[in-house]
Amino acid sequence: MVTEAIEAMRGLKIAVVGKGGVGKTTIAGTLACLLSRRGFKVLAVDADPNANLAYTLGLKAEEADKIIPISENWSLIEEKTGVSPESYGGVFRLSFTVDDIIARYAVKTPCGVNLLVMGVVRSAAQGCMCPANALIRSLLRHILVRMDEVVVADMEAGTEHLGRGTAKHVDYMLVIVEPTLKSLKTAQHIRELALDLGVKTILLVGNKVMDKRDEVVIRGFVEKNDFQLIGMVPYDPEVKEAELTGTPIIFKSPSSRAVCAIEEVCNHLIGSEKT
Ligand SMILES: Nc1ncnc2c1ncn2[C@@H]1O[C@H](COP(=O)(O)OP(=O)(O)OP(=O)(O)O)[C@@H](O)[C@H]1O
Ligand SMILES: [Mg+2]
Repeated sequence: MVTEAIEAMRGLKIAVVGKGGVGKTTIAGTLACLLSRRGFKVLAVDADPNANLAYTLGLKAEEADKIIPISENWSLIEEKTGVSPESYGGVFRLSFTVDDIIARYAVKTPCGVNLLVMGVVRSAAQGCMCPANALIRSLLRHILVRMDEVVVADMEAGTEHLGRGTAKHVDYMLVIVEPTLKSLKTAQHIRELALDLGVKTILLVGNKVMDKRDEVVIRGFVEKNDFQLIGMVPYDPEVKEAELTGTPIIFKSPSSRAVCAIEEVCNHLIGSEKT
């Protein structure tokens, strides 16, 4: 029933954003694996220059290290745009197809999710129209606008590099916060940008919540800033433990408190609590 609902809405596009270190990759990866377990075809997009989503999806370091991010795939960039990636300022093709790129470059991960590593994505405001950037922007647009799958994108800071036309196709922007002033301030800023870009629904998830006081801080912020809170993930030593052993938390400790809390976020997103 849920699957039908998502198919009917032509996939589900989720962007995970937030200040550095709040837990975006942990939550995006675990969420992607959980959605895959529920039977959805999931594409995880790593749009963080410091890409490490692969590990959270269960790829071993030697496999993850082999992945060439799209922004550094010189032969692909040249094939599509007609010029080499170094030709800043030169004339290059702007009309090229990108629908073949996922089949060619997405990597199947042990948790069943396909992973596409984008590499450095510059914001529209930075104005860089080098060939690599043109390809990345066009590919992101294709993934978010045209694909019928569930897409979970680990987006680094915010959605500003999506551009107006693409951002409005993100169904859910999941802003991750931890109970620190800096992370909450970043969330506020992200929300303003996202509203301006036309993102449909902005949701908040608290992470690394240690105690009642942390929870009160996050709830207070939610009320004051008109956010919608959909989950509170506890600080869970199992997350660190899993990371240190190089195993995704969902494999190492599937019934840990952190995974259970992310599962609730997953339920909320696909609306299965209503079925
Ligand atoms: N719920 C949690 N409990 C305990 N530790 C956590 C939790 N969530 C994340 N962490 C730890 O916090 C650190 C940062 O997490 P993660 O890499 O997911 O954040 P990020 O927002 O993707 O960071 P970056 O901005 O660097 O990409 C990691 O060491 C991770 O193990
Ligand atoms: Mg990350």
